[in-house]
Amino acid sequence: MTYEQLLEKAKEASKNAYVPYSKFPVGACILAASGQIYCGCNFENGSLGMTICAERNATGSAVLYGERKFKAIAIYSPLRDNCTPCGACRQVLHEFCEKDEEFDIIVKSGDGIKVYTLAQLLPESFTL
Ligand code: THU
Repeated sequence: MTYEQLLEKAKEASKNAYVPYSKFPVGACILAASGQIYCGCNFENGSLGMTICAERNATGSAVLYGERKFKAIAIYSPLRDNCTPCGACRQVLHEFCEKDEEFDIIVKSGDGIKVYTLAQLLPESFTL
């Protein structure tokens, strides 16, 4: 699966986002080391702090199926280019990375894609 295809899956996932409050849909598609992919969308709650981001939804789905190591995640919002993960999601992704330098984060950029590493977006990350 190419990174462009992974982003396309994230775009599909964003169509199911439940966003009555922010009206800001996000989709994510995470690629596990196994080669399997898992998608997620954000879903909000009237108790706003309970909102789950697309990235954490996708990660949780993968964990449910026994995945523990990931290679990359694509994130898409129809409303924003360069829709990078929030700080909380960066930390959640870090939990399941062998090396932050080897985990890619793919976002839409104009007609193409932009690829970051987690190390770039979460320097000096915390590990327990
Ligand atoms: N959101 C995500 O799904 N992922 C992010 O990385 C940033 C924010 C969602 C949460 C909320 O439903 C909406 O976008 C606006 O913050």
